[in-house]
Amino acid sequence: AALTGVVEYRNVTFAYPGAESPVLSNISFTARPGQTIAIIGSTGAGKTSLLSLLPRLYDPVEGQVLLDGVPVDKLDRAEITKRVALVPQRPYLFSGTIEHNLRFGKTEATDQELWDALRVAQGESFVREKKNGLGARISQGGTNVSGGQRQRLCIARALVTKPRVYLFDDSFSALDVATDARLRTALKGITRDATVIIVAQRISTITEADQILVLDNGRIVDRGTHEELLETSPTYQEIVES
Ligand code: CTP
Ligand code: MG
Repeated sequence: AALTGVVEYRNVTFAYPGAESPVLSNISFTARPGQTIAIIGSTGAGKTSLLSLLPRLYDPVEGQVLLDGVPVDKLDRAEITKRVALVPQRPYLFSGTIEHNLRFGKTEATDQELWDALRVAQGESFVREKKNGLGARISQGGTNVSGGQRQRLCIARALVTKPRVYLFDDSFSALDVATDARLRTALKGITRDATVIIVAQRISTITEADQILVLDNGRIVDRGTHEELLETSPTYQEIVES
């Protein structure tokens, strides 16, 4: 079968090791190439936990997570890494140059590819402004760049790997609304054939998603497009109004 990046969660229940009660219960959804699936819900609802199961940071207690029809626990981790890029909620930069940080996991990328990724991630101008450009030093944890710059470098790092599946965990929250909008427009071009799963806080980030999953207390309580949920989901309406 073609490895196009179909993601399926099938009746997934998950509890953290040693914990008594699950943080995710009976989660089922499918995300296909070309689609953007958004996940929204209050803090602690389980959004980050849900994403963490695809790259196998954790494994479900029940149910299955499948990538292109194969349960992820049957795949090599290297194979998963090649096909899935997770931009974590707390983006991490390590001590080294911007280039080192961007090439992380994919050394064969050309400089041109690094700049292309930066352009899409709206990080091109601030890197150009640095005296050493791609060679500029990042301090441990990225403390010498702003939160928004850190987020953009981590988004660019994901783009450099050219994955089939992108997982964005609240990756646009440190950006102002205009930058967020520009970034998502640019991303759309790049990720046209990829599968995109976005966790977001801001409704404006996800109004165009093909499907929005409303997560509450570890369960998908509602799902649909923005317009559908405005009509049908009290939980979604609450989030919109908050
Ligand atoms: N949790 C846990 N152990 C962890 C991480 C999370 O027990 N290592 C718990 C949290 O305390 C929470 C639940 O798992 O009750 C869901 O956490 P998370 O998936 O991180 O929630 P999010 O929806 O991502 O919350 P936020 O919007 O704040 O990022
Ligand atoms: Mg989270």
